[in-house]
Amino acid sequence: MPTGMEEGGKMPAVIVVGLQFGDEGKGKVVDFYASDADMVVRFQGGANAGHTVIVNGGTYKFHLLPSGSLQKKQLVIGNGVVIDPVILFQEIKSLEAQGIPINLRISDRAHVVFPFHKEIDGIEETLKGSWSAGTTRMGIGPTYSDKFARFGIRIHDLLSKAILMQKLEKLLTIRESLLKEHPNCDEKISLEKLVDTYLEYGRKLQKFITDTSFKVNEALATKKKVLFEGAQGALLDIDFGIYPFGTSSNTIAGGACTGVGVAPTKIDGILGVLKAYTSRVGTGYFPSELKNNIGDRIREKGNEFGTTTGRPRRCGWLDLFAVNYAVRLNAPNGLAITKLDVLGGLEPVKICTDYMLNGENIEHFPANSVLLKECQPIYEEFEGWPDLKPEEWWAIAKQGYDTLPKQVIRYLERISEFLNVPIHLISVGGVRGATICLKKIFFNS
Ligand code: IMP
Repeated sequence: MPTGMEEGGKMPAVIVVGLQFGDEGKGKVVDFYASDADMVVRFQGGANAGHTVIVNGGTYKFHLLPSGSLQKKQLVIGNGVVIDPVILFQEIKSLEAQGIPINLRISDRAHVVFPFHKEIDGIEETLKGSWSAGTTRMGIGPTYSDKFARFGIRIHDLLSKAILMQKLEKLLTIRESLLKEHPNCDEKISLEKLVDTYLEYGRKLQKFITDTSFKVNEALATKKKVLFEGAQGALLDIDFGIYPFGTSSNTIAGGACTGVGVAPTKIDGILGVLKAYTSRVGTGYFPSELKNNIGDRIREKGNEFGTTTGRPRRCGWLDLFAVNYAVRLNAPNGLAITKLDVLGGLEPVKICTDYMLNGENIEHFPANSVLLKECQPIYEEFEGWPDLKPEEWWAIAKQGYDTLPKQVIRYLERISEFLNVPIHLISVGGVRGATICLKKIFFNS
């Protein structure tokens, strides 16, 4: 396997990102590495994310709070995140009800998702027709649109009645033409009611609101270990993902710098997470998709149903041609590979290594997503491995890498060799114990 980062160095700032379409298992990986971190920071996306962490028999789903929440670390939601206060408070309350204390800081510069953003999300999806992304309808696109058009409302605006009233009035005027198409618009959108409700959220949020860029930079300056937790995956990135079928934020590692306010020179390491196969929720082309009983089996066994929407995920073979593109965009120092157990019992197991278009292998992942429809995946075949019971996988995880079935080791070695990136973590089940850590990411810990 290619060599990784040098042992013994210090790695105080590490970004964890998804190398596929999201749902790679980042929640579990972040929860695992967060035990060594002092601070866990979200930098993009919003409640469209759904990170699942299984601990001590309990299953926790996070949409806005970082997955490191269960490790009781300093949590930060950076300026690049779009925050739906309703969902944020649901999550805070649910953790507090379970006796898990929250130590949270929220960026004063983050943008606010309002209920009408969700209405607009739905209306726009309908208007887009065959170009719709199959969004989570969490208002993500419309909130980022407002941000970049410079009439969005930021968290600090929730602290002043006069400003909130002024800005919301303008925003609603601008958005009115679309909102009118919603049948219950008059009943739902009352400026005064919205201002009162969101001022109340502002009041409750006040203790968390701060200049998080300052806080994170201060933590790094004092040698604290900071984990930046990405949401979604590279193939959903607004610039480099399969446009327009992705999300509205920069999901790649570079997004952590703009989404938190830390300079690229402050970042020490990047961990890329990928699943042993591919899944995709929503619309858009997906060359290695398996629209057959193998795809169905992977979905059932891998419990591939959306954390946010419950939608069945489309499943297919691992697409290393696409992941290699994600590796170029993220340049990870190491890989975390999840859900190897799910492929147990399949014979053979396949990996897509190239796309063929008009009879020729293409060199680069295409910008024009329509071309993807014509791309034929080229596969390498691998001998499958046994369909072991969860307890058997845990026992293997406990004993270490060398006790993995030899077919799994061959599969992993091919992935690492193809991508030219070493493997730092392997996951063979949802629980913390079903993890083989080959390399810690915070080396000074
Ligand atoms: P949006 O982010 O809700 O606007 O959805 C845009 C596209 O990204 C849709 O295809 C969604 O299914 C997909 N998407 C958004 N968030 C996630 C995620 O956390 N995991 C997987 N897919 C996601």
